Amino acid sequence: MNKQIKDFKINKICCVGAGYVGGPSMAVLAYKCPKIIVNVVDIDCNKIDNWNSKNLLNLPIYEPGLSEIINKTRNKNLFFSNEIDRCIEEADMVFISVNTPTKTNGIGAGETIDLKYVEACARRIGEKAKGYTIVVEKSTLPVKTAETIKKILDSDSSNIKRNNKTFSILSNPEFLAEGTAVKNLINPDRVLIGGENQIAIDFLKDVYLNWIPLEKIICTNLWSSELSKLTANAFLAQRVSSINSISAICESTGANVTEVSKAVGMDKRIGENFLSPGPGFGGSCFKKDILNLVYIAKYFGLHEVAEFWVQIIKINEWQQKRIYKLIVEKLFGNVSGKKIAFLGFSFKANTNDTRESPAIFIGNYLLKEGAQLSIHDPKVNYEQIKLSFDNPNNLNRDKNSGCWEKVSELSNVFEGADAAIFLTEWDEYRNLNWEKISQTMRKPSWIFDARGILEKEKIINLGLNFWSIGLGS
Ligand code: NAD
Ligand code: UGA
Repeated sequence: MNKQIKDFKINKICCVGAGYVGGPSMAVLAYKCPKIIVNVVDIDCNKIDNWNSKNLLNLPIYEPGLSEIINKTRNKNLFFSNEIDRCIEEADMVFISVNTPTKTNGIGAGETIDLKYVEACARRIGEKAKGYTIVVEKSTLPVKTAETIKKILDSDSSNIKRNNKTFSILSNPEFLAEGTAVKNLINPDRVLIGGENQIAIDFLKDVYLNWIPLEKIICTNLWSSELSKLTANAFLAQRVSSINSISAICESTGANVTEVSKAVGMDKRIGENFLSPGPGFGGSCFKKDILNLVYIAKYFGLHEVAEFWVQIIKINEWQQKRIYKLIVEKLFGNVSGKKIAFLGFSFKANTNDTRESPAIFIGNYLLKEGAQLSIHDPKVNYEQIKLSFDNPNNLNRDKNSGCWEKVSELSNVFEGADAAIFLTEWDEYRNLNWEKISQTMRKPSWIFDARGILEKEKIINLGLNFWSIGLGS
């Protein structure tokens, strides 16, 4: 049945892409809008099977609070399926939530976004949609992508005429952070809607007004919306690189980075968030979004601007490398055949996502030196670690002479280890039984706290060597 603008209403939503954004954002939307039918579709059949799994522990992503919401909405007004064409056809509003990785070949390789998934998605919407459809960019996209999507949607004019199709394009970037996605989606700092067609903007606004106060919904033009998303991620990453650069100065001077962070963050103009030093930022987006910003700056001849942002990534890579070098140096310049316990493999706590995780980079450097890694993570499974190390984009993967194992029991990971490195700030790592641990490790033993989550006194009093980020040894 064709949908026409005059009697248009949002009854059905389709979200293309059932990943870290599509899954949680649509689950919360369905939960807050019980009258709207929400279909989340994906080309990945395994992923859809996992979203439909009876056992909520098998959902494809781990997010605190998500399984409870899925339990309340799934197969009521939230559906996961591979029936992409049918769901697009029936939808009044289609969200594009597909992945937008950095391009690996050709023009802009290593910098700009690979739009092949977005383009494939837009073509399918152009072909299958019926009547009036609002298309919403939820993926993070280069500035002006909405124009490309519009051209694709409008390209088959005979088909458009025959089926009475019309489209409005909106940009509605997602600002959720993994590990706090449900909280961020239920109570976001803001919802941003970019667009040119006020009627379409109002339809999307009405959906959000089911649970978000009007003053938190910002409307801008399309390009401001797309650029705001890249800018927000660049600013956040910049803060992490800033504090990480200061962590190295602290270690050289005897200043304590926790004290410096607190003193600096209490200035209201600066603020206390995003000032925790660590092994460098990971996650699928910070690096790719900054690279994209750099590409845009270069494209417009703004080379100084490009150089400024590139530096954020350089500091991040340097931080990971300096931690690896420090570990090797403390272990007498040799880690070959030595067992090193890795505490945490996800890129941050409360997620099973390992994309761009510092553990992969630091792990690869150590494997290349012949280390034997014993890896623990409460939510990342063996297959995911294997995939992460085998990724062809990872450094040095062909030259590894070391090996790794996944250890399920936390207490076993330390057995016989020369060193333990804390890379993810999981809560269960904060209060360990250090007496027991010190008895099972090989002496002299080193504890490297790359997240600043351990109590130094407890550890050194047991005769273990200790290094902490921004504090030194
Ligand atoms: P993801 O890889 O977890 O999920 C993307 C999904 O899209 C995959 O399951 C893939 O199979 C599917 N897909 C790709 N092409 C498809 C097609 N043509 N038809 C149907 N399905 C298709 O990615 P993500 O982390 O959810 O990120 C999605 C977008 O959201 C990216 O642009 C990202 O930058 C942005 N974003 C991510 C986060 C985050 O925390 N991960 C936060 C904000 C914004
Ligand atoms: C980030 C942004 O916070 C989200 O707003 C955005 O929507 C998302 O990227 C995206 O576009 O993908 P996320 O990557 O999930 O979210 O997680 P963050 O909390 O931002 O952490 C990113 C990395 O920085 C992690 O490796 C984290 O450990 C590190 N970090 C963060 C620090 O080292 N120190 C800090 O103080 C904060």
